[in-house]
Amino acid sequence: MKSGERTPFARLDRTRSEKTRTMKDRCLNRVDALLCTMAISISALLPLQAGHAQTPPRSAGTIAWAQCSACHALKAGAPNKVGPNLFGIFGKPAGKVINYNYSPAMKAANIVWNDKMLDLWLTRPSAVIKGNKMAFSGISDAKRRKVLIEYIKHSGK
Ligand code: HEC
Repeated sequence: MKSGERTPFARLDRTRSEKTRTMKDRCLNRVDALLCTMAISISALLPLQAGHAQTPPRSAGTIAWAQCSACHALKAGAPNKVGPNLFGIFGKPAGKVINYNYSPAMKAANIVWNDKMLDLWLTRPSAVIKGNKMAFSGISDAKRRKVLIEYIKHSGK
């Protein structure tokens, strides 16, 4: 009899081994899927960590800056948007960017943009200069504000 194929036992055996194989295959597929997911997550995280290690204020700053970029440019010579171009704003008095139409409140404000003032401003603009027209409620996360201030400080350098 050739490889016992026609005996009921042999058929049973084959069925069993097919079942086992299928389960094993499924397991392997699952492991593959898991490994794939892990590999993808790791590869997604690696560039972030690498970027972080090299230039901490910038990479986190870029992310934080996304909240401002809709209304502000941060490049030398870039046009004003809804808000003034903030290039080089650090250390300057408020309301002095040329060709920008400030609110009367902002024009009259007698403040200089240092760490402390920017931190207060970014916490709650309306609390620093009443009647200003920056439509932004503020950032409650102190760490995020700090990152953002560093980013503005180092812009263009
Ligand atoms: C919805 C638009 C908008 C967003 C978003 C916004 N700003 Fe403004 N910002 C303005 C406007 C408008 C002014 C001018 C306010 C005025 O004249 O009263 C301003 C003014 C400023 C000033 C004062 C500039 C000067 O010349 O004295 C700073 C600093 C500033 N914004 C920083 C930021 C930062 C940092 C962010 C991101 C967290 C941000 N703004 C988000 C619209 C915006």
